[in-house]
Amino acid sequence: MDIIRIIGGRPLNGAVHINGAKNSALKLMAAALLSDEPLILKNMPDLADTRFMAHLLAHLGVDIIDEGAATTRFCAGALTSSEAPYDLVRKMRATFNVLGPLLARRGQARVSLPGGCAIGARPVDLHLKALGALGADITLDEGYATAVAPKGLHGAHISFPFVSVGATEHTMLAAVLAHGQTILDNAAREPEITDLAACLNAMGAHIEGAGTDRIVIDGVTALHGATHEVVPDRIEAGTYALAVAATGGRVIIENCRPAHLNALWGPMREAGINITEQDGSVIVERTNGTLEAIDIETRAFPGFPTDLQAQFMALMACARGTSIIRETIFENRFMHAPELARLGANITVHGHEAVVRGVDELHGAPVMATDLRASVSLVIAGLVAQGETQISRIYHLDRGFEGLENKLAALGADIRRIKA
Ligand code: UD1
Repeated sequence: MDIIRIIGGRPLNGAVHINGAKNSALKLMAAALLSDEPLILKNMPDLADTRFMAHLLAHLGVDIIDEGAATTRFCAGALTSSEAPYDLVRKMRATFNVLGPLLARRGQARVSLPGGCAIGARPVDLHLKALGALGADITLDEGYATAVAPKGLHGAHISFPFVSVGATEHTMLAAVLAHGQTILDNAAREPEITDLAACLNAMGAHIEGAGTDRIVIDGVTALHGATHEVVPDRIEAGTYALAVAATGGRVIIENCRPAHLNALWGPMREAGINITEQDGSVIVERTNGTLEAIDIETRAFPGFPTDLQAQFMALMACARGTSIIRETIFENRFMHAPELARLGANITVHGHEAVVRGVDELHGAPVMATDLRASVSLVIAGLVAQGETQISRIYHLDRGFEGLENKLAALGADIRRIKA
């Protein structure tokens, strides 16, 4: 297996380009199943996860053409299967989102229950309940969800008991082709939800209120082809911002939407980092040596993103003072803490809370990636640590960060991938 080797202690300077959002792209790809006409997605990231999703779509009969320049054409003209087998679902939770579109388009579907990052139990009960409310008859057997709706799906009023990004998206993906109106209350408000609604509306859907906690969908009988540009990846942008904050230096983060990261800019500014928001880019600068410890708590959007918690912890590991980091979205998302401790960080975890006591220096060591966002926090810590850090199990990293080591090397980091 490949590893990443970093010699830490160098500041980052220059410009970095942000790709389209992984979390958005995966759901937009599922949306392609809803029409027999082509969906053309621009600003597509090239990641292990998007390739995995493409394999699944190809298995279902979707014709996929890479048109170059980060543009991919998906045509679900003639679907050949309504079954997503275990081998094509197990690695990634977002693949489960094909259940709703298949059901809406074909009246039946059978999809293996999902896998994904080991960051908690992550059930799909809300997804199944919402599809049930839309009229699907769902049975669970042998690790598969089988859903049928012989008379088609119908609109419903669904009030989610708590905010779920995946369940909100999944219900939208089915309700667009349901008979009548669907109202989603306590819907997720993430930018990826707004992006999905924009794409579906471009395909002829009638969705209002995306980005608020009430989404209203008037079902239509068919969707048509469209061209849509994937929203920039706010998690990738935030990760580079936190990397510069940790190492020092000045980096322009290009092709991003700074307003999607307001919950990050506040704590970073309080910590002593200069943030200059521009139209489509942001400048992150740390010139003075002091970094103040700041407390954060993860929340659904517009709160602090759980997908940046691990990276923020890496930053706080070398701040002055003590930072309390509370994780409220996932129950097991501190697996990076013991690995950061191997680099010299002083972190104690009590349930949902991590107490990070800043240290003067981190030191390179061999560490192991445990999940997607955790692995990039080890990269950030490695960039700061004195000496050599070797990160193994970096397939986690390849799921969500395109060209990470090349982008960081171009900013001045001493980082390279060593092929197994
Ligand atoms: C998505 C993102 C992930 C991000 C998360 C929260 C993708 C591919 N992944 O994950 O990167 O960290 O949003 O911003 O877009 N839950 C249930 N039952 C359900 C659904 C969810 O109990 O049916 C729980 C989850 O276990 C978790 C919480 O709800 O504790 C929030 O999960 P959710 O918002 O659904 O996250 P994902 O869509 O899986």
